Amino acid sequence: MGLDEAIADAPQDAFARSGAEKAALSARDQRPAATIGRSFGPGIAQEDVEPPSRTTARPSTIVTTSTPSADEAAAEAERIAAACASIDELEEAIAGFDGCPLKKGARSTVVRDGVIGSDLLVIGEAPGRDEDRIGKPFVGRAGQLLDRMLAAIGRTRADNTLITNVIYWRPPGNRTPTDAEILVCRPFVERFITIAEPKAIAVMGGVALKGLSGETGITRARGRWRDLELGGATRPAIPMFHPAFLLRRPEQKRLAWADLQALDAKLNGG
Ligand code: URA
Repeated sequence: MGLDEAIADAPQDAFARSGAEKAALSARDQRPAATIGRSFGPGIAQEDVEPPSRTTARPSTIVTTSTPSADEAAAEAERIAAACASIDELEEAIAGFDGCPLKKGARSTVVRDGVIGSDLLVIGEAPGRDEDRIGKPFVGRAGQLLDRMLAAIGRTRADNTLITNVIYWRPPGNRTPTDAEILVCRPFVERFITIAEPKAIAVMGGVALKGLSGETGITRARGRWRDLELGGATRPAIPMFHPAFLLRRPEQKRLAWADLQALDAKLNGG
């Protein structure tokens, strides 16, 4: 039969559940789909994975959830973000937000580095190990390359560039953020852009592109300006290869250089 492990001392007869337990299970199964929402995956939408009690049946132990779905968490993020009037306020609000499960496994909330009020906003993917340790975006090897790329067009984070990510907490093992994680952080990202009012946005890599525009395929998208409609304003954005990708594929730096020049031209009225 494929059974290889005993999980309780005594066998359970699922057909002989108490009336109350059956009613609770049935109520759970009949929820309209819209109330379930997008979940963060196994272990998050507890009610969808919790097995029936294997010991004495007590109805109150069957449906156990207070964890919001990704849609609910995104709605909460939207409310919080809308109440923020400055980047500093937003940064504090993001640090206090518990709706993204990545936060539990991260050491820091990583929101931004650089100069508020810069005409250039660089948006990356998510913090890695070094960023999580230090609490600022792009401080590891990829960040050092980003600094050199920016320096090539007369930009530094100390003078005239603002840097952020589409995710504020390090994904475990640096895995790619899920769509649900991107969805939850997105209201903060949008508000960040609206408050920052950059003249141009450099979108670093495929995850940032997806997080901002929903598009996939950085190789096709890179180097092509597009308008991001956010908070009632239109912001020109140019997708580029992520510096971490350029570290692995240095022959692609030629294309990155072309994109940097296009960015420089846009910022300087070209
Ligand atoms: N890669 C990113 O996209 N962002 C960081 O902050 C660090 C690495």
